[in-house]
Amino acid sequence: MGVTVDVRAQVAGELDSARARTLALLAPLDDTALTGQVSPLMSPLVWDLAHVGHYEELWLLRNVAGAPPTDVLYDDVYDAFRHPRAERPALPILGPADARRFVSDVRARVLDVLATVDLARGDRLLRDGFVYGMVAQHEHQHDETMLATLQLMEDFVHPDADDWHPRAVPPSLQASIEIDRGGFVMGTDDPWALDNERPARDRELPAFRIDRAPVTNRDYQEFVDSGGYDEPRVWDPRGWSWRRNAGLEAPQFWAREGARSWSRVRYGRREPIPADEPVQHVCWYEADAFARWAGTRLPTEIEWERAALVARETNGQWDHGVWEWTASDFRGHPGFEAFPYREYSEVFFGPEYKVLRGGSWATHPLVHRLSFRNWDYPIRRQIFAGFRC
Ligand code: AVJ
Ligand code: FE
Repeated sequence: MGVTVDVRAQVAGELDSARARTLALLAPLDDTALTGQVSPLMSPLVWDLAHVGHYEELWLLRNVAGAPPTDVLYDDVYDAFRHPRAERPALPILGPADARRFVSDVRARVLDVLATVDLARGDRLLRDGFVYGMVAQHEHQHDETMLATLQLMEDFVHPDADDWHPRAVPPSLQASIEIDRGGFVMGTDDPWALDNERPARDRELPAFRIDRAPVTNRDYQEFVDSGGYDEPRVWDPRGWSWRRNAGLEAPQFWAREGARSWSRVRYGRREPIPADEPVQHVCWYEADAFARWAGTRLPTEIEWERAALVARETNGQWDHGVWEWTASDFRGHPGFEAFPYREYSEVFFGPEYKVLRGGSWATHPLVHRLSFRNWDYPIRRQIFAGFRC
């Protein structure tokens, strides 16, 4: 079948390019750097590597082909839900050489299965190669997580980091646009979309204005320098201030160089802050406070998606290489159905997590769909997150 041949080749190519990326990211690191833990918020890098292989074995060998596990112990050690990141260094995890061997052994067997699997056999996991797309996207998502870990190693200089930053916003986009009242299709039925993006549904929205680009470092620094971190949050009558109560005075990785001057550390190098780049490494509370200070607010997720669709149809420029915090809690779209496992999205639904939309400079195009939904705790700053108002 012509379609099946194409899907097979496409899948093999996507798996291969995800793996090339993973190995290139980790290649400059020695065993100490791979096994150490830089922050309780992150896994040792070697855990991410073997977890990627375990996930691939689980879905593409055990589920697709009924193959036996390499080691049942891995079901415990590499299950993200059984062990929070802070605990992972204490687990009996594979060392770097064994982890590399494990992932490449899994991959060789996956390609063998892929050569003969009947993609048209009718189960939903295999339709259009979905489960293969899910696994390739999973690896890319962990690559992004590993890039956040590398950034947290403040004195490690990665040789490939020159372009690891958001894209400058041209002055012509430092403005807002009016989005008319109207209906649009939210979500997607794209065959490789993940469960939380589905299904595509008609939605209605009143008119609103939204920034054409994320808030830049220039604008954000104005907020910082005008005492934004000292201002009591407007909803808190006890005068809570970030500087006093949380010890924060600027985005993560910024350092004061003078009264109104800041630098940042990026992959082990200190550099001036590029004024036109979107701010990144701010938490949801910082984004929300900036918006209040500027007399505006964060967009809801539905507003964000409608505006992104309008921008794509008009000038095409919308994303600038940061995840964007929205005002919305992470919940299922109307008609949501968990697939193929509840732990991808559904167990995170509720008021604890905020949705981020778009994608960062570290988000691979395979993951970076307009409908893609990311989520995190509103206090998190290590992800590549900014915002627009
Ligand atoms: C979608 C980025 C929130 O990293 O927790 C990785 C992606 N899911 N392994 C995460 C994910 C399972 C997920 N995020
Ligand atoms: Fe994972």
